[in-house]
Amino acid sequence: MRMVDLIQKKRDGYCFTNEEIDFIINGFTCGSIPDYQMSAFLMAVYFQGMDSLETTQLTMAMVNSGDIMDLSGIHGVKVDKHSTGGVGDKTSLIVGPLVAAVGVPVAKMSGRGLGHTGGTIDKLESIEGFHVKLSQEAFVEQVNKHKIAIVSQTGNLTPADKKIYALRDVTATVNSIPLIASSIMSKKIASGADAIVLDVKMGSGAFMKTLADARELAKIMVQIGKGLKIKTIAIITDMNQPLGYEVGNANEVKEAIEVLNGKGEAGFVKVCLTIAAYMTVAGGIYTDFIQAYAALSGVLQNGEALDKFKEFIDAQGGRAAVADNPELLPRARNHVELKSTLAGYIQNIAAEQVGIAAMLLGAGRKTINEPIDYAAGITLKKKVGDEVQPDDVLAVLHSNQTINPENCQILSKAFVIGPQRPGELPDVYDVIE
Ligand code: URA
Repeated sequence: MRMVDLIQKKRDGYCFTNEEIDFIINGFTCGSIPDYQMSAFLMAVYFQGMDSLETTQLTMAMVNSGDIMDLSGIHGVKVDKHSTGGVGDKTSLIVGPLVAAVGVPVAKMSGRGLGHTGGTIDKLESIEGFHVKLSQEAFVEQVNKHKIAIVSQTGNLTPADKKIYALRDVTATVNSIPLIASSIMSKKIASGADAIVLDVKMGSGAFMKTLADARELAKIMVQIGKGLKIKTIAIITDMNQPLGYEVGNANEVKEAIEVLNGKGEAGFVKVCLTIAAYMTVAGGIYTDFIQAYAALSGVLQNGEALDKFKEFIDAQGGRAAVADNPELLPRARNHVELKSTLAGYIQNIAAEQVGIAAMLLGAGRKTINEPIDYAAGITLKKKVGDEVQPDDVLAVLHSNQTINPENCQILSKAFVIGPQRPGELPDVYDVIE
């Protein structure tokens, strides 16, 4: 087989055989296929797409490129959750302890933030003492004892995805449904989950800008899971503005604690409860969504989810007292208010732009090894649909570095203000099972 023939085949719109896909992934992983040919291949896939059989084979080839976690030592149905990427997405910090509190084992590997998107691992590391590395043995033991462990990705899981994702990032080929689907599903399958709940983000701040595209991505991922007998559910949720009010690290932990205390923004709480309800049904704890949703609302209100959060933080060496006193979390030296110059209603808050502004304040990294200022970030004071007057505070910027007018300018570009109150944005658009 020659890579040049396979590039041509996809360029001309034909489908690959399983052997051809294995050849490409194995060749690229071991280095016999160079970046320039892989880049051409990715661009051909970007324009021509892949059918569901090809996408499934691509997923499996990536799974088989590295290790597969053996979580068979964990008791119960292991339900994993994954978001396709959002800004202010602290959902895992809430959903993890919430479902663990009712008995679903959460054995989760999470990533760090890059570019405008945050990562659960960075958020957890903003808690003093919290460690994100556990041996496989300690990981299994912790999940069996406390029902929850969240660690950074270890071992050699899906090396093909790591290499391909890095190349997609610099060749404008991230935004392809088969490439996103195979990237996400390969990681989840290699992580050893029995069931997967996917949070597919849709809107201006997401990879999927339209509901039709989000549905297509959701369907193909569900189909891949089904083909492998892994129960997979995809929930399409809104990303036309950041999730909740906080974007950063320590400030997102603070907001998560608020939700675990039975408070928080109603729309964000609904997203968390919806994801958690499907996870607990998949985990066999409740029989249906409605029963699960009601029971989990109670667990948020009665403090059991917060208690589980404390237990989890403590188990991984973190200062659990932050749950009772969020003021113990890192706090920035500098704070600047961004004020509105207009009167009207907030039409849109470009999530990606907010993410970039937070990154430039120190909350994120431009390249993978940069250090993070855990206290840096943005607190939104207005959300889509809110009325504003000139001089009203739209957001507060936090950082340990000097906050300059350019930072405010970047953030101000995210806010679109118009004369009419916009229609309400749904929090959850659809569920694909
Ligand atoms: N998240 C992933 O893990 N992979 C993608 O391709 C996109 C989002």
